[in-house]
Amino acid sequence: MPRKMTVQTLWKMKQAGQRIAMLTAYDYPTARLLDEAGVHALLVGDSLGMVFQGHETTVKVTLEQMIYHTEMVSRAAQQALVIADLPFLCASLPEGEALRCAGRLMQEGGAGAVKLEGGRAFASLVRRLVQAGIPVMGHLGLTPQSVHALGGFSVQGRTRAAVEQLLDDARALVEAGVFAIVLELIPAEVAARVTRELPIPTIGIGAGPDCDGQVLVFHDFVGYTSGYVPKHNKRYAELADAIRRAAATYIQEVGDGVFPGPEQTVHLKPEEAEALAPLLNATHATDGPPQGGHQA
Ligand code: KIV
Repeated sequence: MPRKMTVQTLWKMKQAGQRIAMLTAYDYPTARLLDEAGVHALLVGDSLGMVFQGHETTVKVTLEQMIYHTEMVSRAAQQALVIADLPFLCASLPEGEALRCAGRLMQEGGAGAVKLEGGRAFASLVRRLVQAGIPVMGHLGLTPQSVHALGGFSVQGRTRAAVEQLLDDARALVEAGVFAIVLELIPAEVAARVTRELPIPTIGIGAGPDCDGQVLVFHDFVGYTSGYVPKHNKRYAELADAIRRAAATYIQEVGDGVFPGPEQTVHLKPEEAEALAPLLNATHATDGPPQGGHQA
């Protein structure tokens, strides 16, 4: 069995110049496939609020829902490190309560680490979580939980002040003890600068090729998302098309009586057929649909 990935393995990968491949996962069968394929880390992202639950943002995702999804992914992951998002506002609770939320993601969800969005303002909480034995991943740049404050899902870190702020946040998080930082939707040059400076891995999404690793949202990655597809995404499969085609064929085959065919049909054994013949061969006339139910 392959060795379980840990925070330390990710550090070694950075030191050895090996790129880290992370994907989001929200359910058991998907996590199992990705884990078997050798993905290094599985992020139970609160992006599930958008791509799984169909909301406009991640803001509605609750802690209970995160635990529910994390538990499925953790059970499936034999080798990948499972990281669970602290959902909206959890990191802004009093530290003791935020610690309990993170603790539940690990104890009930089985996560190996948690991720929280934000910089210096959360350094004290990060320190507290790390002291309690909870590995923490940071998340800077576009932080989707703040989409209402940021005014949309737009590229961050384009001005001198913004880049200085980003560097300051990254340094504060490192000092507080995060083991890695997601950099979302920032120019490649800025991500490269942050990555060069930090002793811990950066994992980019829409942050160019020079991060220590990359992450994509599963549904975007396999073409399972309808509507808007972010520019930074690359589709490695076309699941939505495959599902649409499969459904159209199924409807056609059910209509034509082609499905179920002989391979999908169970028959009585001869002795069973003989025993049941009086019952099965009895005629029972029907005059139409049952009465008293649904009226057209
Ligand atoms: O929620 C999520 O999936 C994320 C990734 C986009 C990094 O935070």
